Amino acid sequence: GAISRHDYRPPAWLVPETRLVFDLDPAATRVTATLSVTRNDASGDPLRLDGAGQRPLAVRVDGVAIDDWRIEGEQLVVPLAGDAHTIETEVEIAPERNTQLMGLYASGGILCTQCEAEGFRRITYFPDRPDVLSRYAVRMVADAARYPVLLANGDPVAAGTLDDGRHWAEWNDPFPKPSYLFALVAGDLAVNRGQFTTQSGRGVDLGIWVRAGDVEKTRHALHALELAMAWDERVYGREYDLDVFNIVAVDDFNFGAMENKGLNIFNSRYILADPDTATDYDYDAIAAVVAHEYFHNWSGNRITCRDWFQLSLKEGFTVYRDQGFSADQGSAAVKRIEDVRGLRAAQFPEDAGPLAHPVRPESYIEIGNFYTATIYNKGAELIRMMATILGPQAFRAATDLYFTRFDGTAATCEDFVACMEEASGRDLTQFRLWYSQAGTPRVAASLSHQAGDGRATLRLAQHVPATPGQPDKQPMVLPLRIRVFGAETGRALGDEQLVLLDEAASTIVFDGITERPVLSVNRGFSAPVIIESDRSAADLAFLSAHDDDPFARYEAMQQLMLDTLVATTIEGRPDNDAVITAVANTLDDRTLDPAFVAEAVLLPSEGFIGDQLAMVDPEAIFRAREGLRRALGLRLADRWRDAYERAPDGPYVYSPAAKGHRRLRSVALGYIAASGADDAATIAFRQFERADNMTDRQGALGTLANGYSDEREAALDIFYHRYAGNSLVIDKWFQTQALSSRDDTGRLVADLARHPDFTLANPNRARALVGAFGANQRAFNAADGSGYRFLADQLIALDKLNPQTAAKLLPPLARWRRFDSDRAALMRGALERIVATPGLSKDVFEQASKSLG
Ligand code: ARG
Ligand code: ZN
Repeated sequence: GAISRHDYRPPAWLVPETRLVFDLDPAATRVTATLSVTRNDASGDPLRLDGAGQRPLAVRVDGVAIDDWRIEGEQLVVPLAGDAHTIETEVEIAPERNTQLMGLYASGGILCTQCEAEGFRRITYFPDRPDVLSRYAVRMVADAARYPVLLANGDPVAAGTLDDGRHWAEWNDPFPKPSYLFALVAGDLAVNRGQFTTQSGRGVDLGIWVRAGDVEKTRHALHALELAMAWDERVYGREYDLDVFNIVAVDDFNFGAMENKGLNIFNSRYILADPDTATDYDYDAIAAVVAHEYFHNWSGNRITCRDWFQLSLKEGFTVYRDQGFSADQGSAAVKRIEDVRGLRAAQFPEDAGPLAHPVRPESYIEIGNFYTATIYNKGAELIRMMATILGPQAFRAATDLYFTRFDGTAATCEDFVACMEEASGRDLTQFRLWYSQAGTPRVAASLSHQAGDGRATLRLAQHVPATPGQPDKQPMVLPLRIRVFGAETGRALGDEQLVLLDEAASTIVFDGITERPVLSVNRGFSAPVIIESDRSAADLAFLSAHDDDPFARYEAMQQLMLDTLVATTIEGRPDNDAVITAVANTLDDRTLDPAFVAEAVLLPSEGFIGDQLAMVDPEAIFRAREGLRRALGLRLADRWRDAYERAPDGPYVYSPAAKGHRRLRSVALGYIAASGADDAATIAFRQFERADNMTDRQGALGTLANGYSDEREAALDIFYHRYAGNSLVIDKWFQTQALSSRDDTGRLVADLARHPDFTLANPNRARALVGAFGANQRAFNAADGSGYRFLADQLIALDKLNPQTAAKLLPPLARWRRFDSDRAALMRGALERIVATPGLSKDVFEQASKSLG
């Protein structure tokens, strides 16, 4: 059944102290839990402890075995007479048979945990909800040879050896925490150690724990951690609070990483990097995720969520914080462009489809399905809007107030917004609609010029589309950064303004407009909305060359490209000249950062073009986009060659400048190939062979993989053999092929699913092939429905092992309403087959049944 936000009740019992003893063994781990419990209300309710999959072997109350406990659903119910007791339970679990990767499980010989959101109940009986904060003391006992390293949350307090070849360690975490932040790790691990001194002089021992052969690949992550710790002190005044901070990397992990107090556990793809195996994109993502998990220590751990409907309280805010960190490491403009592209690729479609939900949802069946782009990325946009409305000083005062007031508590989104109001004196009543109304607002913007009066009039109108369960919407508060430019002089006509559009429609008048004005609106993407403007191709080209806001410049170019591609898709008659001229001008402007140029000249994705259309025709979109790519490739051939050659050679360095050059080079290579040039495969193969780094090597491989050359086969083969056994790189090999624009990608992907290296048991591998294929708009939407069948088959198979990761692969099938009736029927057929599968998890059931609508 569904759980509703309005049903929240404070816990009947609290658990101030928790003592856990783990007798660790992959086949049979004994867990003894001793909970001190205290009554929290007058209800007289029995103690209810959540469990999942296990049976209590013993239950003791105040040291005495009892037998009047009962099991209701999966809860252990213990009647208790008094107001304070000690409860002891014993269970046995089998980490090596845990394929869900929730709770305690085995990954490549390492025993580790993942408890968020509801994994702790798979370890022991406990009130597994985020508003029950407890102080944990943990003892682990394990075979000393197989598991020489034993880690848990907090500080190590004691360790010793037993005479049967086993050893033990005890860890105490002085900070009360919810069960989802519990963690332990046992394994044969090596460490890269660092030292950090906090602003108040506390020395912190940092450790990144990996397999012995991988220690060299943790340097970037450790450096990122040190930068993140310093950044949080400087920008938010937040200091670390324990003597140790450990990170462990494991190969089998359902998500990116987890912020367990003092013991973050990571998917190894967000820790391990060296130039030979990781791309610039990987380096960026590692720094961002390391920072994200570290920042959770305050926004998540010290202040946690009252209930899971408040998930964006910690995730939206922490994403906003990690975006700020990354922006400060290099080009803030390029970072903003990347973040907006990600929002449009993942969150806008979610908001426009059957799985749409507000940033603070009203109900869920399985909370694991709500770790979404809406909670994370749109949630971050909400924080960004409040920061924009408040301004930097008031925003910092508001976060200080929030951190002080709610430290040590489980808080709500409302608590956060109330701090924003109190510290700034602003009324955010209407702003709160952003938390409750789903759907991406659409804003019509039209600027007219009254030349005789020296005036311009901007008409703005907003509309929030209906979403499931929310047919009627109220106008939201949209902070729009706006500036007007003169078409003749290219100069700004007045300063930038922050317009708060809070009504359905509004008019703004600009004075002193002495020449034809051009509108720059939603600069910096100040509001996560869709702008519908009537700006001409000429005006967009003008902005792409003259706007002083780099994001707005990029955006004007994107809009120009999008208008062109949409027109071509619908009418079939391309008019590419304006785009070609604008791209040429951007390439010729040597004052621009190459990283920015690379972003600006890239065409919108097939998916994003489809999102503009009432009905998606994947083949027509593909042809329109390829046509424009080819036209750009041919007409600007010399410029692409020049951009390709211009990048300085030399050994790999990870720096913003070097990254930008590599990025532009790989974009240029893509256009050289798109032009159909005879030597394209030769150039790409030469780059592939000569590269001293994965960025250039994978860039070349990606270009080759889209084509049909002999070089393609050779490169894929060389790449595979060179990196055999390196699972993160073999993931790239699968993914690159799954993203290919070749006509036969569907068949090749089906073959790859039978490759000996393919397994659904490893989430990274499943995502690399099946996840990437679902994002390949053309191949996935093959007219014969083979793509839909393939995805459904893989998803049904994966659901038996790992429901969380299976459910995450489903959303591409949810888009059936946007397709022609033949495709829609095939997609529905795939969804119906999934729903009808016996033994389906509630994770996949919720996604599939909601998708059918
Ligand atoms: N809190 C983790 C993070 O954002 C992710 C946990 C994901 N859990 C889940 N059930 N999807 O860093
Ligand atoms: Zn997070």
